[in-house]
Amino acid sequence: MYVCLCNAFTDRDVNRAIDTGAHTVGQVYKTLQAVPQCGKCKDMIREMITDRHALQSPAEAARPFGLPAEPAIA
Ligand code: FES
Repeated sequence: MYVCLCNAFTDRDVNRAIDTGAHTVGQVYKTLQAVPQCGKCKDMIREMITDRHALQSPAEAARPFGLPAEPAIA
């Protein structure tokens, strides 16, 4: 599904941007190398960020920029 018609990016593109560390609407645009134009997609992107982070475990959500978790020390 298209999220941003002005830049032709989809929900899959937005989720990929979120999974690689985008935490704000601006970061999603930047990750997708897009520039906001009409801005009608901002609320949808903001909602997707909130929903995506809610689905992640607290440990995953705390990792900056999607970096792999550090190995546990035994
Ligand atoms: S729909 Fe995304 S900037 Fe217009």
